[in-house]
Amino acid sequence: MATPTGKPTIPMHPQAQALPDSERGWKEIPYEEYIDPDHNPYLNLHRTWGRPVLTSEQAAACRGAWQQEFGRKAPLNVEIGTGNGFFFSGMAESHPAENWLGIEIRFKRVILTAKKLRAEATEANSRICRYDASALSDLFLPGEIDTLYINHPDPWDKERWAKNRLLGPEFLDKIAVLMAPGAELRIKTDHLVNVDAVLKHIDGRPFELFARCDDVNGEGAPWDGDIVTNYQRKFFERGLPVYALRLRRS
Ligand SMILES: C[S@@+](CC[C@H](N)C(=O)[O-])C[C@H]1O[C@@H](n2cnc3c(N)ncnc32)[C@H](O)[C@@H]1O
Repeated sequence: MATPTGKPTIPMHPQAQALPDSERGWKEIPYEEYIDPDHNPYLNLHRTWGRPVLTSEQAAACRGAWQQEFGRKAPLNVEIGTGNGFFFSGMAESHPAENWLGIEIRFKRVILTAKKLRAEATEANSRICRYDASALSDLFLPGEIDTLYINHPDPWDKERWAKNRLLGPEFLDKIAVLMAPGAELRIKTDHLVNVDAVLKHIDGRPFELFARCDDVNGEGAPWDGDIVTNYQRKFFERGLPVYALRLRRS
């Protein structure tokens, strides 16, 4: 069975099959998440947590209505793959006048992020949703995103896995529609292949390179007020480079 992102197909557990698509968020849920939902505390927890956590269904219902969800008109910043949420919660806290939406596919990481958003300062201006970023158009109308952050996307570093990498031409086409003119795409990665791919694929697409940095841990990211992510710290500790790209949707 092929999946839209071309990821390796995994037979779906019957319990996952029984869920409506909206609850699964996407059919391509990691199999282990569904082996026994009753024993995955994070799957159940994310359903019962309440704001700032949004289930896939709740997040998709906000498409075109993020300002209503946040109860105010403010720039919408999105991070794909929040991991354990250090960057996301830190950015939301240090930019209280902006709205922040995190998108994370793994239930446990949704909850780890949510725990860091408990502080009053961030509860008002941030939401973390469980969703597969390869189906991003489910969540936004054209032009709804003002800044898009992607930090250390999964590397899929073997060539035979290349089609699974997030930062490919299809993804750039998708976000070109969802980002407002003038919106920024800010990427940090430990994987030079990602840098080369993005620079190759923006050719002929409505993005312009604003800044590039090949040593974020030494020089800092090419935007103000950046926060070190969990993966970034790991690469720093190993003395390995982290790259950054700052692009503008023209
Ligand atoms: C290598 S980790 C980086 C985590 C964090 N951004 C950091 O820099 O510390 C990649 C993260 O992206 C999430 N992720 C991978 N594919 C995703 C997808 N299709 N949609 C949403 N999140 C995804 C993973 O679950 C993981 O938390």
